[in-house]
Amino acid sequence: MKHKTKIFLAAALLATAAAAQADGVFRPGALWPDDKGVHINAHGGGILEHDGVYYWFGEHKVAGTAGNRAQVGVHVYSSRNLTDWKDEGIALAVTDDPASDIVRDAIIERPKVIRNPKTGKFVMWFHLELKGKRYDAARAGVAVADKVTGPYVYQGSFRPDAGAWPLDVTPADKDPATSFLARDHAGGQMSRDMTLFVDDDGKAYQLYASEENHTMHVSRLADDTLRSAGQYARVKQNGDDEAPAIFRHGGKYYLVTSGLTGWAPNAAKSYVADDILGPWRALGNPVRGTPEQQKITFGGQSTYALTLRRNGCTRHILMLDVWRKEDAIDGRYVWLPVEWEGGKPVVRWRDQWTLADMDKLPCDGPGD
Ligand code: DGJ
Repeated sequence: MKHKTKIFLAAALLATAAAAQADGVFRPGALWPDDKGVHINAHGGGILEHDGVYYWFGEHKVAGTAGNRAQVGVHVYSSRNLTDWKDEGIALAVTDDPASDIVRDAIIERPKVIRNPKTGKFVMWFHLELKGKRYDAARAGVAVADKVTGPYVYQGSFRPDAGAWPLDVTPADKDPATSFLARDHAGGQMSRDMTLFVDDDGKAYQLYASEENHTMHVSRLADDTLRSAGQYARVKQNGDDEAPAIFRHGGKYYLVTSGLTGWAPNAAKSYVADDILGPWRALGNPVRGTPEQQKITFGGQSTYALTLRRNGCTRHILMLDVWRKEDAIDGRYVWLPVEWEGGKPVVRWRDQWTLADMDKLPCDGPGD
């Protein structure tokens, strides 16, 4: 093939990839091409806004069931409009060092990144499971970078809140014969599905599924945002909550979670609190739609809630993953605008929508 023809074909291919981008339209559950035309690979993800650009961090999955374990690391994409994403590469890479916690084939799930306001560093937390140990380790991993897209340098892993009792502790909680909390008191609490949240006052929190996945903890981070401060509370004891997605609206905190059915979808739940450290009150299933949609949350599981301030109104987008257990790389994303119904945040299915559509929704959350 002549050189000029090759250049022409390459340019045509790039143009097709660009045209395949979402162009301002969210299409829940559909393939979501990046700037190279490749389906976005950032599962269990979260978003950080920095200098007017959104960064989407998530689990890079590969084909097949092995893709549910970390074969590559944490992928990062950037966007200004939230629908068209540029591949920024691997933010945190797995290693081939068998002595490392993040050796290939370990489990790295639900990475979330925040910026430490004091140090200016970007701090990534994720759910870490050690290679070959199934989901037994239940640890939080932390990595740090000077640049938002990385490379992130792994700092270590731990179980949060070692040696601390929750603010809502009861005498029964302190009995190691019956309480997971007491059993794990010295070594730290089990930490599986997780997210991070930075409050308006700059304080950062980790929400993590703990106590053998039975109870969600909300835990304040130390000022360095590299570890827990030892101050935490529980959302609902034995609530069987995982997949936390939290946001703040009108001075209240809202939390969406799922139940515990592995990779299979189940009914979402929601909670509200005046104080992030509780008490939390159940608001029921936030999904509006058919009984089937409510039963399986549109086939998805919550991972993050993105808050946007638009035209004087605070808006939120609920981000869900549709897992494909047998072919992890084919997992899909369902992003839906949060609506308000009698003071409760709710989501409805939309085949497609735009931010302009979201702007037309009533801006009537409590406190607005
Ligand atoms: C459900 C969790 O939400 C996922 O992040 C993952 O840990 C799967 N369970 C594993 O079965």
